[in-house]
Amino acid sequence: MNNIFLMPSKILSGIGAINQLEPHVRNKGDKALIVSDNIMTKIGNVERVSNILDKCGISYEVYDEVNSEPTDVVVEKGVAVFQQTNCKFIIALGGGSPIDAAKAIGFMSVSSGKINDYMGEVINTEIPYLVAIPTTAGTGSEVTQFTIITDTENNVKMLLKGPALMPKLAVVDPEFTVTTPPAVTVATGIDALTHAIEAYTSKRAQPLSDVFALSAIKRIYDNLNVVFKNGQNMQARYEMSLGALEAGIAFNNSSVTIVHGMSRPIGAIFHVPHGVSNAILLAKCLEYAIAGHVTRFAEIAKTIGIYKETMSELEAAQKLVSVIEQFCKTLQVPTLEELKINRDEFYRNLDKMAEDALESGSPANALRNFNKDEIIEIYIKLWE
Ligand SMILES: [Fe+2]
Repeated sequence: MNNIFLMPSKILSGIGAINQLEPHVRNKGDKALIVSDNIMTKIGNVERVSNILDKCGISYEVYDEVNSEPTDVVVEKGVAVFQQTNCKFIIALGGGSPIDAAKAIGFMSVSSGKINDYMGEVINTEIPYLVAIPTTAGTGSEVTQFTIITDTENNVKMLLKGPALMPKLAVVDPEFTVTTPPAVTVATGIDALTHAIEAYTSKRAQPLSDVFALSAIKRIYDNLNVVFKNGQNMQARYEMSLGALEAGIAFNNSSVTIVHGMSRPIGAIFHVPHGVSNAILLAKCLEYAIAGHVTRFAEIAKTIGIYKETMSELEAAQKLVSVIEQFCKTLQVPTLEELKINRDEFYRNLDKMAEDALESGSPANALRNFNKDEIIEIYIKLWE
């Protein structure tokens, strides 16, 4: 079997990597659009970037209104700012939301119609030069060809993909992540862990994605607890940033599976942040996924050091599931009840959520077949 493996063109990584940005933006145009959120402006991160642009004599416009997961409306407004102020390239600064929004803004600045028209298409249109600077260790959006935009008319999360959406430069600097509060650190960290586990257990996994996926799983498993307890631990933050980056590279090439498939409908209907809904689903989905994933789960167990020689592969796989369940508990992942989701409304939506999950195509990437009834069963188990 032959595989294609996509890698971003350039990654600057390390503590203080942002200080190396200057030569990489010097010739990209006389005006940049900085896509971010208002917290980044408030805590001075936008200024850290704009100071570098000032040094290069590049003017800029700040669009810092991507304050939650991006919608078609937020993207349209960003496109208007980009075009009306004559920007030439884009710098995305923030968690996955501003980076996802920036990809869509770049694409729609050179495309006609509405973003909803492009759902399900492979995007090949060249977009303006895009720099992505993640401020959380989670989505891996800085190195992926995906963007998730909510279609506000139909309450559905649209997945747009294509190599053209991959940022040309990713700046992975853990200094931007130290201010991330513990709950967000956990949600985004488990999102990254989910990317890595799903990339490793996807039908579309390949030898190169396996390398990045296993490395990411180990880094995140070893460090997420550390940064949860002490967000100022820069070395552990660096490991988390690298883990999220590796997980991004892995799932960019082998895609995600059941957790992400089931997570998006919860996010779209109940407005639960992406990382949180993944975290809620992870252990339950893994439990159901054991059949079909025994060997790969056992490999993960070996990688994170919980395998013992006396164990059978099945025992190792079961051990992994129980360890991940405990891991999420220790990290205080909330329940749907704690998030004040209305149980009756959740039950009323079971059918739609299961259908949307299957329609996303992600569950079909798993090594075990999931049908609609099983997906509904897992959703119900979240309330136990
Ligand atoms: Fe994700």
